[in-house]
Amino acid sequence: MIYLDHAATSWPKAPPVFEAMKEACCQVGGNPGRGGHEMGLEAGRRILAARQQVAELLGVGATRIVFTKNTTEALNLALFGILKPGDRVVTSSVEHNSVLRPLAALEKRGVEVEVLPAPGGRLDLDALAQALKKETRLVVLSHASNVTGDIIPLAEVAELVRSSGALFLADIAQSLGYLPVKLGELPVDLAAFPGHKGLLGPLGTGGLYIRSGIVLEPLIYGGTGSYSDSVEQPEILPDRYESGTPNLPGILGLGAAAEFVRNHGSEIAEKSLALAQEFRQRLSELEKVKIYGPEKLAVPLISVNFGQEASEEVARVLSEFFQIAVRGGLHCAPLAHRTIGTETQGTVRFSFGYGNTQEDVEAAYKAAVQICLQL
Ligand SMILES: Cc1ncc(COP(=O)(O)O)c(C=O)c1O
Repeated sequence: MIYLDHAATSWPKAPPVFEAMKEACCQVGGNPGRGGHEMGLEAGRRILAARQQVAELLGVGATRIVFTKNTTEALNLALFGILKPGDRVVTSSVEHNSVLRPLAALEKRGVEVEVLPAPGGRLDLDALAQALKKETRLVVLSHASNVTGDIIPLAEVAELVRSSGALFLADIAQSLGYLPVKLGELPVDLAAFPGHKGLLGPLGTGGLYIRSGIVLEPLIYGGTGSYSDSVEQPEILPDRYESGTPNLPGILGLGAAAEFVRNHGSEIAEKSLALAQEFRQRLSELEKVKIYGPEKLAVPLISVNFGQEASEEVARVLSEFFQIAVRGGLHCAPLAHRTIGTETQGTVRFSFGYGNTQEDVEAAYKAAVQICLQL
């Protein structure tokens, strides 16, 4: 199989991930923070090391990183943790359902939600500035769209939001690992990230960066192994937001992945982007292929359609007849498709990453030509 679905989850994972996960299962094994025996203590030390590895990559302090099971959980923690009835939140029409659905639920609880237009998939910065004239508690935007690959100027947007007095939550699901995101150098208050996409870590891992000074209502309450004499949720981080036994193999795998990306990420990102850009160029020569998103790619994903063919059907054909894994459909971002006019057809998304080669570009292009000939 030629894997061109890295925007869903990267594959293969970074080589050091396997050893770290195996060690977690075979050598460490205790429950971190629960029990003073050596196995529990060692598990706690390894989790702290993994937190430091992730924090270093993001340029922030380790205690500001809370582990979650994916970006979605991190976004939920941030959104439900900040927004109260009567608050106003601003977002855009290209967001993922992991932003839009929590906001729809919060709207029912009395939170005012404004969805900004993003013509052609690009956020309208003037509309954002205009929206920030009204008192706003939070702005939540994705750094890179998972449908078109369009990016927002993160530093400029974060600055604009900061100067308005609102908080800024960045969804960096599609940019982390491909674009440098040094959160400590940006006026970003919260950032939700996956461990399993551009970081090349295991599925079921992710996290939330919480700037110092921000206190959220936890999403989950329970045992943390700390302050066990109290029935109140601890206030210290990360304990406040990490109740229950953590995913030790996943977190240690994620730490190893973050270290790998810190050392090799720029080469991987450069290579993935070059392959995606070349593929885009070659597709642009095919008359029956319509390409969405920017001509010059910022992240290695391309959304296209083949004539009027349903995108899920093209994805099925690519998988079944050409052994090429891509994603068709709406990519959990219905408003983004309404914005670019593909709400019924969806798009076929090719996303490149670690492990892809020139031969993969060749094979995918040849498959695209064959599909066009059948239209
Ligand atoms: C922009 C964006 N935000 C959030 C998510 C949700 O990520 P996760 O699957 O890690 O929950 C995705 C997943 O594709 C995404 O592309």
